[in-house]
Amino acid sequence: MFKASSIALGALCAMLVASSQAVAADAANGEAAFKKRCVACHTVEKGKNKVGPSLFGIVGKKAGTAEGFKYSASYVEAGSKGLNWTEDKIVPYLQDPKDFMEKVTGNPKAKSKMVFKLKPENERQDIAAYLATVK
Ligand code: HEC
Repeated sequence: MFKASSIALGALCAMLVASSQAVAADAANGEAAFKKRCVACHTVEKGKNKVGPSLFGIVGKKAGTAEGFKYSASYVEAGSKGLNWTEDKIVPYLQDPKDFMEKVTGNPKAKSKMVFKLKPENERQDIAAYLATVK
């Protein structure tokens, strides 16, 4: 019994170590990933919108409010319902923007012009950490 529980404890420790590594987002990696994955549609320059809105100062900002960008109604609605971007929200958002907007607005027909989805969680975390530095 002692042996089994110490194995279980060992496994638990290994899991904790693995998950704390996954949580340690790296802004430098995030910048590289951003340049690969996001610059086709976004800049981090203030006021410079492309296909997507400028992401300058996005962490801490209300959704759907980059100046001069024409958002889908769902983004404006999400903002008026209180969606302020934090790292914790950008991470799930990037996995599936439309699904995220459906949940935030409570509307199963929510729209997103951002059709891009990013799977790897560590990359999403790194990018979110990088975006927090752009202000
Ligand atoms: C193919 C183009 C495209 C790519 C690639 C893309 N996006 Fe977007 N993004 C958009 C568009 C378009 C919108 C606005 C969506 C709308 O209004 O429906 C948007 C919106 C956003 C928003 C919400 C902005 C706000 O002001 O509320 C965030 C955050 C965001 N994108 C982050 C990213 C990140 C980070 C990446 C890279 C991992 C990325 N996007 C890749 C096109 C793109």
